Amino acid sequence: MAIDSVIDAKQIKTDSESLAVWGKDWTNGFEVAPSAVVFPESNEQVVAIVEYAIANQVSLVPSGGRTGLSGGAVASSGEVVVSFDRMNRIIDFNKEDRLVTCQAGVVTQVLQEFAAEHDLFYPVDFASAGSSQVGGNVATNAGGIKVIRYGLTRNWVAGMRIVTGAGVLLACNQGLVKNATGYDLRHLFIGSEGTLGLICEVDMRLTSLPESQVVMVVGVPNAVDLLSVLMAFSDELTLSAFEFFSDLALDKVIAHRDLQPPLATREPYYALLEFDESSLDAATRAFEHCVTEGWVTDGVISQSGAQAQALWQLREGISESIAGDTPYKNDLSVTINQVPEFLSDVDQFVEASYPGYDVCWYGHIGDGNLHLNILRPEDMSVEDFMEKGHEMSPKIFELVQERQGSISAEHGVGLLKKDFLNYTRSDKEIELMRGLKNLFDPHQILNPGKLFS
Ligand code: MLT
Ligand code: ZN
Repeated sequence: MAIDSVIDAKQIKTDSESLAVWGKDWTNGFEVAPSAVVFPESNEQVVAIVEYAIANQVSLVPSGGRTGLSGGAVASSGEVVVSFDRMNRIIDFNKEDRLVTCQAGVVTQVLQEFAAEHDLFYPVDFASAGSSQVGGNVATNAGGIKVIRYGLTRNWVAGMRIVTGAGVLLACNQGLVKNATGYDLRHLFIGSEGTLGLICEVDMRLTSLPESQVVMVVGVPNAVDLLSVLMAFSDELTLSAFEFFSDLALDKVIAHRDLQPPLATREPYYALLEFDESSLDAATRAFEHCVTEGWVTDGVISQSGAQAQALWQLREGISESIAGDTPYKNDLSVTINQVPEFLSDVDQFVEASYPGYDVCWYGHIGDGNLHLNILRPEDMSVEDFMEKGHEMSPKIFELVQERQGSISAEHGVGLLKKDFLNYTRSDKEIELMRGLKNLFDPHQILNPGKLFS
């Protein structure tokens, strides 16, 4: 039986160009070989696709905005890709509960704009908000730039409709704030990377619009002082964001986007802070204290929304600006108090073992999440450099493990990190996770080979 027995032929693509586009996410280096892409338009069609997959022993790879960086949405061996591009409607809004019901394919930015139109705020935000989709955000528990104040996607999911690998359409929590009736299955699906169920609809909670935000960028000569700066500001005010980037990252982004450096002097590191306009005096006090202590040499502060956005570009444009260097990418976290020492551990390791490699640091340092990007030397082929990456990974993950950190803070495990899961999760935990996988996906049809083999 072919897939067009359960879904209209117009909702199926099998041409090679489409297979190449929908068969992968932003992760490179894996074979891309799906057999078809299907575009369901309703929960019932998703159920029918799963039933078809069970009956015909076909594997399914759920696919959202395909902005993932761990290969969670890569189809490498004849799977059918289930794209949520046509399930992209906001289907309900309840002002009293501040709840918006989105189909999985609603783009993050569309949700943010919808909230703003109703004088409300959806606070989860990141550089790929213009193309990532709500279902993918939930499947990976997306984090981003405002986690320090608003938390991860998990904090905002008030309910969901999901089709399990057994083809059962489950409604998990129905927008309730309080629901003390046993296991909250919703939270199992959040961050499960499409291995337990296909997310069809999500009830997202919204919050009050914040006041106007101010952005400050400061130059920090020593990595160890990034933490001192964070503490100095956090003692005085509530931060909405505390990001950092290295001077090499600044070089890359200003060259790529044709921007100006933010400060007259260059420093090894920069911190980007965002806070409410009413905290300006407190922020000025914190800044002066940092300068007196020698933690910060200079700073710039936005005077308008446009200037705030321009400063944000310096951080949000980094990932794109280094893509051409085919970097060895890593997304690591440790507890905030260990950040400076961990940064120095990694720097020392790279310097000693791979002299001459450029390390480009940036990330959400205010919540302990560091993006380590080692750039490919110009004279090295992509293949040879990928080999080097494979060689480096266990050594870097040992440094993470020593500090009980995470080998994937916000990008997920997917195909990329699955062989290293045990650096962060114990054997017992992995065994229990496998048990859950068998329970929700007894036929092993959902995103097989992701998270673990
Ligand atoms: C970011 O924070 O810019 C994103 O997670 C993307 C990346 O790590 O490159
Ligand atoms: Zn990030």
